[in-house]
Amino acid sequence: MILVTGGAGFIGANFILQWTAQSDEPIVNLDKLSYAGNLNNLLALEGDARHHFVHGDIADRGLLSALLASHRPRAVLHFAAESHVDRSIHGPGAFIDTNVNGTFALLETVLAHWSALPSPEQAAFRFLHVSTDEVFGSLVAGEAPFTERSAYAPNSPYSASKAAADHLVRAFGRTYGLPVLTVHSANNYGPMQFPEKLIPLFIANARGGMPLPLYGDGLQVRDWLHVIDHCAALRRVLEDGRPGEAYNIGGGNEHSNLEVAEALCTVLDELAPKEEGSYRSLIAFVADRPGHDRRYAIDAGKMRRELGWSPSRTFAGGIRDTVRWYLGNTAWVETVRSGAYRHWIERQYGPRSSGAAA
Ligand code: NAD
Ligand code: DAU
Repeated sequence: MILVTGGAGFIGANFILQWTAQSDEPIVNLDKLSYAGNLNNLLALEGDARHHFVHGDIADRGLLSALLASHRPRAVLHFAAESHVDRSIHGPGAFIDTNVNGTFALLETVLAHWSALPSPEQAAFRFLHVSTDEVFGSLVAGEAPFTERSAYAPNSPYSASKAAADHLVRAFGRTYGLPVLTVHSANNYGPMQFPEKLIPLFIANARGGMPLPLYGDGLQVRDWLHVIDHCAALRRVLEDGRPGEAYNIGGGNEHSNLEVAEALCTVLDELAPKEEGSYRSLIAFVADRPGHDRRYAIDAGKMRRELGWSPSRTFAGGIRDTVRWYLGNTAWVETVRSGAYRHWIERQYGPRSSGAAA
């Protein structure tokens, strides 16, 4: 039995689907179903006894203690977070509540449970914290990619809250001996990503004939990692990662946002051509994100050397599959683009340019 937090979100749900496709070990999935949590992501597991969903907050210590006591998981995989940088700029409070205070409550509760376990179970136990490359700040062109030894330099309220969580996780490992593992992962993409993030937002907007709003000059660079590769990496870290260590997980796919937008348009032009010409005409440059990090790049050498993991997906193939998924799952997209989501779009893009999204 493993306990996953945030398993109704993008990466958590992909992880659970991959896990249940490869293992019979059951999962408790604790998720508060924020705007980003979507049980439709896990419809394939309806009635499957291996997936036990619990609606709740990671900060609810009573609920968590009861879950740990009754299920006795061998590991906790901590995905739950507020995850969108732009939202953290408009309202950092929720990021402190969940990413910092929520992670702290989770750590204290897990520690109390772990401390009372018999020593063989204590030794086998793992707490895997899913963090981000954004805690390392921004690289300039030509600078070496982030390693696990890169200095922390978070620039957004989101990355600062994740950095705070990382430090708490590390401290619980060093001070109390909790067997913790931390991963710093690059930008994920793939099926079921909430359409506030660059790739699903641009696909949805393109299909709706709406502008594709590129911040600033669009030349910011991200390292794109297919979520399926990410989930496989997490399994490797869980099984053979060394407690107390951090692991950087990247796709080895550095692309500017403009290149990503153009790649999406090329695939859309082929798979869903529109009469009026290329989707490229929808690309629109809008005001930049405050504090926008210029470049992220990951050195995933430690994952390769120590755990034998490397990404299997090319960016071209991954983007194609991702566009196909969104084209084939318009009902999923429509459901998540609910009233609350439209309110967010209004707030985020209204002052930048009108009609950025449906
Ligand atoms: P997401 O926003 O899609 O999903 C987050 C999930 O956490 C949702 O299901 C939500 O309901 C749940 N949640 C939020 N607050 C909660 C709380 N207080 N208690 C219980 N559940 C709560 O996020 P994601 O993109 O799947 O990211 C998952 C994790 O991976 C996050 O920790 C994020 O920081 C990290 N990460 C994401 C990326 C990326 O590119 N998406 C890259 C690196 C790291
Ligand atoms: O690097 C890992 C991080 O990647 C994760 O920790 C975060 O949870 C995840 O949201 C992601 O953060 P980014 O800020 O890099 O992702 P986002 O999809 O929001 O933006 C990707 C790039 O595209 C970034 O440079 C901002 C730009 N962008 C984004 C949006 C939504 C645009 O130009 N226009 C947009 O409308």
